[in-house]
Parts: sequence; C-alpha cells; structure tokens
Amino acid sequence: MRPTIIAANWKSNTSKAEGKHLIKQILQGSWPSSCHVIVAPPFVYLPIIQEAIQDSAIMLSAQDCSEYDNGAYTGQVSAKMLSDSKVEYVILGHSERRALFNESDETLKAKIGLARAQGLKVIFCFGEQLEERKMGSHFVIVSEQLALLAELDDLDAEDFVLAYEPVWAIGTGETASPEQAEEMHAHIREELSSIVSPKFSEQAFILYGGSVKPNNAQSLFDMPNIDGALVGGASLQADDFLKIINAG
Ligand code: PGA
Repeated sequence: MRPTIIAANWKSNTSKAEGKHLIKQILQGSWPSSCHVIVAPPFVYLPIIQEAIQDSAIMLSAQDCSEYDNGAYTGQVSAKMLSDSKVEYVILGHSERRALFNESDETLKAKIGLARAQGLKVIFCFGEQLEERKMGSHFVIVSEQLALLAELDDLDAEDFVLAYEPVWAIGTGETASPEQAEEMHAHIREELSSIVSPKFSEQAFILYGGSVKPNNAQSLFDMPNIDGALVGGASLQADDFLKIINAG
C-alpha cells in the first residue's frame, strides 16, 4: 500500500500573520502517520513556515522555481536557492503557471532538470482543459503532457510525485467525480509503465487536484489509483484541511 500525500498549495494567498496562524492551527491537529503532509506557502513565507514546522512531520514545498540556474534574472528564485534553504519539494507545471505565465514544456523541462539536480523533490502537475474534456481528447492531452518524463533518468517515486489536476476543476468548486478521476489515474499509471517503467508506475504517487474539499476527499481517496491530493482553496481553512488529511 502506498502512503497518502496531501499537499497544500497556498498560491498567492495569506498575509504573514495569516500564514503563521494557519500553520499553527494545522499543527494542533493530528493525522495518521501513513499520511504525508506537505505545505507550499508563497516564497517569502518559506522561512517562517519552515521554522513553525521544524519539529513536526509536515514537509515544505515551494510553488515554483526558475528555469535558470543563476544570473541576471530579476525576480527569479532558483532551485539552488530553494535547496540551499532546505526546502524539500517544488511544485512544477501547475496549470496557472502554464496558462497565466505561458510556461511551455521547454521551460518546464528546464525547471525540472534544475530542481532534480539540486535534490529537490518535484510535484509535477498536469491536466486537461474543459474544451479538451468536452471533445473527448483528455486522455491524449494527458499522455502528451506526460511524454516529457521519457527524457528524465532515474525517476524515483519518492522524489517525483505526480498531480493530475483537470483545469476545469481548479478553484471552480466543480470536482471530477471519483470515477472520472480514477479512470484518468488508471490511464496515467498505465502510461507511466511504458514511459518510465513498470516499477515506477507501481510505486508512483498520483495525486488528484481540483476543488478537493472535506465532503469529496474520502470518496476520491477510496479509489485504488488516487494516492492523495493537491489542495488549493480548502487548504487555507485549517479545519477543512485537517478533515481532508484525515480522509487520506
Ligand atoms: P483548488 O486548487 O483546490 O482550489 O481547486 C487546486 C490546485 O490548484 O492545486
């Protein structure tokens, strides 16, 4: 049995005080040790949240990193800086980065390469748009997004987590049904077996993301190929997030 991973993506939300309060409330809760919890606050709050979680089982993630190693790239935060700051994970390929910041597969590949070279664990996001689902091309689109994994050597399930996030379900309150999500996760696992290896496919953590809430978490996690969640909106409410963790 794979353990469950529940990752909180705070996106560009919370003030410093709100972030500190939120993590304090989460730390007051409890959850089974088989559930691994990751929190991804905005860059500037990484040190504060890191300090707050230091004696806990919660792990720290950044929400992105630069496609450049270092140099004259104003505003960019490199993978090296994250690793130097003892950040463990980085979320890459989130649909908001792809859509709002024109992140291409080439850029994404550069980021993944640098993150892995710095020993960061990657949470790799992908998923189809509403139009693509309506047209019935969602499996093809997801397979295309997974294709870049063929170029990555020595993929290890512990260090490279996958997050299927149908774009139409992110922040919309509309979730993929457990059956829809499971169907796609089973497809992803099959693809991983041929693109990477049967061993990786079997061990891979495939998270679901897209309006995961306390009332739908359990039915999603009951599915055999769903290994947890990447949670946006509901991760900003400690009560809701703790309920999701405990469903895992
Ligand atoms: P959501 O966001 O839970 O608010 O839909 C998920 C995500 O974007 O990772």
